[in-house]
Amino acid sequence: MDKMWSGRFSASASSLLDQFNASIMFDRKLYLEDIEGSLAHATMLEKQGILTKEELKQITDGLNQVRTEIESGEFEWKISDEDLHMGIEKRLTALIGDAGKKLHTARSRNDQVAVDFRRWTLKKNLVLVEALKALMKEVLVVAEQHTETLIPGMTHLQHAQPINFGFHLGAYLSMFKRDIERFESSYERNNVSPLGCAALAGTPHNVNRETTADLLGFDSVSVNCLDTVSDRDFALEILFNISTMMMHISRLSEELIMWSSYEFGFVELSDEYSTGSSIMPQKKNPDVPELLRGKTGRVYGSLMGLLTVMKGLPLAYNKDTQEDKEGVFDAVETAEISLEILKEAIKTMTVKPHNMEKACAIGHLSATDLADYLVEKCNIPFREAHFITGRAVAKGEELGVDLSAMEFKYLKEIDERINEDVMPYLALRHSMNARTSQGGTATVRTLEQLEFFRAYITEQSEDLNV
Ligand code: ARG
Repeated sequence: MDKMWSGRFSASASSLLDQFNASIMFDRKLYLEDIEGSLAHATMLEKQGILTKEELKQITDGLNQVRTEIESGEFEWKISDEDLHMGIEKRLTALIGDAGKKLHTARSRNDQVAVDFRRWTLKKNLVLVEALKALMKEVLVVAEQHTETLIPGMTHLQHAQPINFGFHLGAYLSMFKRDIERFESSYERNNVSPLGCAALAGTPHNVNRETTADLLGFDSVSVNCLDTVSDRDFALEILFNISTMMMHISRLSEELIMWSSYEFGFVELSDEYSTGSSIMPQKKNPDVPELLRGKTGRVYGSLMGLLTVMKGLPLAYNKDTQEDKEGVFDAVETAEISLEILKEAIKTMTVKPHNMEKACAIGHLSATDLADYLVEKCNIPFREAHFITGRAVAKGEELGVDLSAMEFKYLKEIDERINEDVMPYLALRHSMNARTSQGGTATVRTLEQLEFFRAYITEQSEDLNV
C-alpha cells in the first residue's frame, strides 16, 4: 500500500496490474522536462504565497538532487511507482519530507504529463529543423556541382525530357524546405502552457499560469483546461510531420536504389555506407536507402496508432492517452538517425555524369522540342506537330537511332516544311536549356533555384540563433 493514491483502497494492486499500468519504463525519458516543470510550479506557488520561501528552497534543492541521481544512474526507477511523475515526487519526499508533499498543490498528473511531453516534443521539432538544414546543405553541394549534368527526366518511370541533375535534386530541396516549415509551424502553434489546468477544470488555488508559462519558455497559456489536458495534437503533428518527411526521404531512397543498380549506374554509394552479401562476394547492397524506405512504414504505423487511440476518447484525460509516448519517441529517434545517415550517404556517394548523359541518348527525349519547333518555326498547329513528331520517332526506332542523333534528310522526308535550322532543337542540352520558364530546368533557372535554397538555409540558421 505504498501508492501515492492508495487512500481510498483497502487492498494492494497486483503486480500484474503494476506492470500493465506503468509507463515509468519509457516516460523516464521526460525526466528533465518533469523536473523543470516542477521547479517552475514551485517557484510560482511561492510567489503566490502558497509555499514559503523555505519550502521552495527545500523543493529546489531536493529536485536538483533527484536530477543528479538520475543523471548519475543512481536513481531507482520502480515499476511500482507507475510513472516518472510519481517516481520523482516520491524520491523528493523521501529526501526533504513534508515540503515534498506540498509540491503537487494546484497540479495534477494530467497537466504535468501534458507539460512534460509537450515541451519534449516542441524541442524535437527544432532539433529536426536543424538536422533537415544539415541534410539540405549536403544535397545543395551535390546539386550545385551538377547544374549542367544531363539526366533523363521521367514520368511513369519512362524517359520524358532531358533535365539536369541539379534540378532533379532541387525537387528534394523543395520537399525538405516544406518539411522544415511544417516542424516550425507545429512548434509555434503548440507552444502554449498546460500548467495550471490541473485535473481538467482548473484549480481554486490562486495560481498564476502566466508565471509558469514564462518560466518554462511557453509563448502563452492555453485557453480551455478541459481541452488542454486531453489534447495530443502536438504529438500527432510531429508524427505527421515526420511521416511526410520520411515519405520524401523514402522517395529519394527509392531513386538512390535504382540509380545505384547496374541498369542505371547513375551513382555509386560509398563503401562506408553500403553493405555486402553473406553469400555473393561480388555484391554491394544499398541497405541504407532500403532501410530508410522500410522505416518510413514504421513511422506511419505510429501516426495511425495514435490517431486511433485518440479518436474515441471522451473528454478529458483517459488512460488510453498514456499510449501516446512510445510511438512518438520511436518516430523521433528514427527521424534523427535517418536524417543523419542520409546526409552522410549523399555526401560520400559518387555521381556518374557520363552514365546519366548516356542514358539521355535513349528514348527520344527531344521529341517535344521537335514538336515545339514545328509550331514555332513552321506555323503548324500543335496537334499536327505532335503527329509529325510521332512519325519521326517511329523512323528513329526503325533506324535504331535516337531523335537527337537523326540525320536531317530523314526529317525532311517526313515533312517538307522542316528546315535545317531544326538541328539545334534536337540536341539534348539545347532541349534542357530551352526550358527557361520560371521554375524550369534550364541551367540558368536551376542556378536561381539553388541560390534560393542556399539563401533559405542561411537565413534559417540566423533566425534560430536569435
Ligand atoms: N502516466 C500517465 C500518462 O502518461 C500520466 C497521467 C496519469 N494521469 C492519471 N489521471 N492517471 O498519461
